[in-house]
Amino acid sequence: MKRWNLAVCLLIFIAPVVGFAESQERKGQRLFAGCLKKVDDKATLKAGVFICKGDRDPEPFGGNGRACGDCHVPGDNFGLSAERIATLPRDHPFFFRGLDEDQNLLRAHGLVHVTVPGRIDEFRQTPKLVHLQSTCDKKGRCDSLGLNGDRVTNLCVFTFEAIRNHMAKSVNRVAGQDFRVPTKKECKWLVAYMVSDLVADQDERNEKNR
Ligand code: HEC
Repeated sequence: MKRWNLAVCLLIFIAPVVGFAESQERKGQRLFAGCLKKVDDKATLKAGVFICKGDRDPEPFGGNGRACGDCHVPGDNFGLSAERIATLPRDHPFFFRGLDEDQNLLRAHGLVHVTVPGRIDEFRQTPKLVHLQSTCDKKGRCDSLGLNGDRVTNLCVFTFEAIRNHMAKSVNRVAGQDFRVPTKKECKWLVAYMVSDLVADQDERNEKNR
């Protein structure tokens, strides 16, 4: 077989397999970043915050305008530093005023109101996510989650709680009204993204090793 013939055959067989594995992570990345189309990788890497190719979803998961990636930013190992917060414009979704945040704590210390009904009601900083690949398996079952390790350990369930907690339109936090519950597929994609190299490789320790 001619060499180019072989190359074409290989492409036809291998591309769908690789492409499929990639697309789950990429779909998750788009949801995480709140982009309607794709994430602009180059611009995102340069800016340290997510930049979309095309429009941004004005209401990720039918909520208040915040996306996961507004708090978990790529340039801060998917956490959010005080220095970064100081650069955010006043009308940035991070400062959404319709929830029970303390705007001073939010702006000065990055302390976000974390609520889990009947269990947790406190202000916590946004943790990095680059370690999830090593503390969770591919299905999103994790050793522990939350700054105090006191949250559900299933990444998909955690994702639902994150949307309800941080992305709702009002403090009532009613599903179907203040936000939309992610579908099974969407949860799978978000989990695939969070445990993927796309997130793990933002780790500054890897950066130094390059
Ligand atoms: C307003 C900011 C904000 C938004 C938006 C947000 N998060 Fe978070 N995230 C936090 C804070 C604060 C914590 C710490 C929670 C705790 O300790 O209980 C956290 C914790 C986490 C953790 C646990 C990390 C660990 O190591 O324990 C994961 C996973 C996570 N968020 C995923 C998401 C996903 C997925 C979304 C979008 C659906 C999202 N977050 C949206 C602020 C945010």
